[in-house]
Amino acid sequence: MGERQSAALSGDAQQPDAAVMESVVQAVLASPKYAALDPALVASLANQELRKGRQVREAIKKVKNRLHQSTASYWLTTPHYAHWRAAIEAAKDEPTRKTQLQSILRMHYSMRERLPFLADFYRTIFAGLASVRRVLDLGCGLNPLALPWMGLPSETTYFACDIDREQIAFLDWWLRLQGRSGQAFVWNLLAGAPPIEPVDVALLLKMAPCLAQLDVVAPARLLEEVRASVVVVSFPAQSLGGRDKGMVAHYAATMDALLAGRNWRVERFDFPTELVFRVRKDRCF
Ligand SMILES: C[S@@+](CC[C@H](N)C(=O)[O-])C[C@H]1O[C@@H](n2cnc3c(N)ncnc32)[C@H](O)[C@@H]1O
Repeated sequence: MGERQSAALSGDAQQPDAAVMESVVQAVLASPKYAALDPALVASLANQELRKGRQVREAIKKVKNRLHQSTASYWLTTPHYAHWRAAIEAAKDEPTRKTQLQSILRMHYSMRERLPFLADFYRTIFAGLASVRRVLDLGCGLNPLALPWMGLPSETTYFACDIDREQIAFLDWWLRLQGRSGQAFVWNLLAGAPPIEPVDVALLLKMAPCLAQLDVVAPARLLEEVRASVVVVSFPAQSLGGRDKGMVAHYAATMDALLAGRNWRVERFDFPTELVFRVRKDRCF
């Protein structure tokens, strides 16, 4: 693809040329780091970048940067799903399996930060809820691996979505291994909430900043759209590098803005590295 063709816009001045868009998408997916990502998300970012009038090469670079920020940067290492499956299966008893799970959870920054207060975290966010029969974990990362710490009834159905097909295949295998009803599935949250039946609790853990980086209105739209009696929304209380840069005050203000004009009941919980809000939308369902 020549650079002169690169930013070609079709007859509709707003709409990038389909072939140009496809070339950006294919170039991004050709990189092993992004190969398993949902092509719909890559296409939506390619579309955004080309609409800014960028050349193909520049658009590819920008899309990769944004994907790095919103997904790849959370991994300490390349995920080794086959190896992790084998390690989980090889665990002979529950304590050994939990130890294995913790060592895997340490590979994703979001979960790594949560490990020191894992059981307390889930006890708090699910405490006092009348019945939790269906849970939806939005942009789940490795959170479903923490099911053994969640204290949910065995009949609770667990749905989890994220944007990486290999990660999702691994998590779906894990749900089956647990005998847990539900499903892990690929879903790009920039397209809105996944089209599933209403749930009792939706988890939007450390997702709002990540989504806002891709589309500034996505968190508010998702919070509005998701059909859940309760939505647990959390924010990091420190940066990935471990520095507290006034993030609690900043994200408390972000949450205030997300809730502006809503008549929802909200509780706040402060954990050492995570600021959590439990939002009751009950009256909507
Ligand atoms: C900060 S991590 C949070 C992971 C998990 N919720 C947790 O708290 O442990 C952000 C997650 O959002 C996912 N993600 C990024 N963009 C997304 C999108 N457009 N749709 C769905 N998931 C997305 C990333 O792949 C990553 O797993």
